[in-house]
Amino acid sequence: MEYHIAARMDRMAPSGIRKVNEKALAMERAGERVLHFEIGRPDFDTPEYIKKAAKEALAEGKVHYTSNFGTMELRQAIADKLKRENHIDYKATEVLVTVGLSEAVFAVLATLLDEGDEILVPDPVWLNYINVPNLLGAKAVTYSLKEENGYQMDFDEIRAKITPKTRAIVIVTPNNPTGGVLEESVLEELAEIVKANDLMVIADEIYERLVYDGCKHVSIASLPGMKERTFTMNGMSKAYAMDGWRLGYVAAPEEYITVMNKFHQHNTTCAPSFVQAAATAALTQEGDEVKEMVKEYQRRRDYAVKAINEIDGISCLCPKGAFYIFINCKKLGKSSAELAQYLLEEAKIALVPGDVFGPGGEGYLRMSFANSYENIVEGCAKLKEAVERLTKG
Ligand SMILES: Cc1ncc(COP(=O)(O)O)c(C=O)c1O
Repeated sequence: MEYHIAARMDRMAPSGIRKVNEKALAMERAGERVLHFEIGRPDFDTPEYIKKAAKEALAEGKVHYTSNFGTMELRQAIADKLKRENHIDYKATEVLVTVGLSEAVFAVLATLLDEGDEILVPDPVWLNYINVPNLLGAKAVTYSLKEENGYQMDFDEIRAKITPKTRAIVIVTPNNPTGGVLEESVLEELAEIVKANDLMVIADEIYERLVYDGCKHVSIASLPGMKERTFTMNGMSKAYAMDGWRLGYVAAPEEYITVMNKFHQHNTTCAPSFVQAAATAALTQEGDEVKEMVKEYQRRRDYAVKAINEIDGISCLCPKGAFYIFINCKKLGKSSAELAQYLLEEAKIALVPGDVFGPGGEGYLRMSFANSYENIVEGCAKLKEAVERLTKG
């Protein structure tokens, strides 16, 4: 029997990160030891106080559908957090709780983009921002984030790419895969362009708590006149090591929240009830748990950045945020895909070829430092040896 698959599914590429991961897992099943630097998920366990809240919620029978929008307790906790930490004055009714930020991407873009509309998206970027507009029949137009520019935005390029069909611009700060954090002055300039061209901003802030060296994350919605032009998107996955719990949210003007909720109702109904209770606890009862994780990420980052920059033929900028190092391998004369394959097969270290995140990532490899310090030390030594074999023959 021949199965029919809708043509639109061809507009969506499978995740290149998972491809590396599947291969690494297959090698492990065959008895090899592989060091994983490909997956962008915290290696820490979820803090105990959050698990406790989930267990209590289950014991209390919080096992049924909640309001589609999310529980009022969680929406209020999110609004309070956005006021306290991000200096944006959202009401609880301006928050929609989703099943991970991933679902919020679909809800926002389905609400915002008509077929044929354009959306400006960074290159390189987490690929949902390319695949979802494509699936919706809209066009993702990329703008570059370049290493020589400290992964900041080039406004000449952005201005040149705005057309009457442009509806919105996506920013991901801190960024996956570059680890770059957009500076406040850059966000201020972007805000002026957005207002002048009547655009919306889709601000993915999932890595906002993971910033290093005292670097400051600024939410664009906190700038004058920007709250009404921004979808502020975030979730529990990264900061609270809750990626498997699937809890995200989007804050936006209520007119949008109401319409996005239609998408959300038909897609997932609501986020899991006891997870919402746990997320409420995560946001309202936090002690030093996140700070401790960030301290450890920074220790690993400092080691890896130094070790990588001591290897002849490759280099990297020191990421200011997230948990990724974007390694420049252009001098090695091989494509990112060839290098990633070589490193996996020969050195047993899994890294993601940069072109998986868009053409701007060609010549780079993404290394996640969400892995133990010991594994990072060992991985960097293996990387050095493998690169030396290439450069010294
Ligand atoms: C930039 C970015 N946004 C969103 C997500 C996914 O977030 P969630 O787990 O909340 O769906 C990721 C996951 O890697 C990401 O890198």
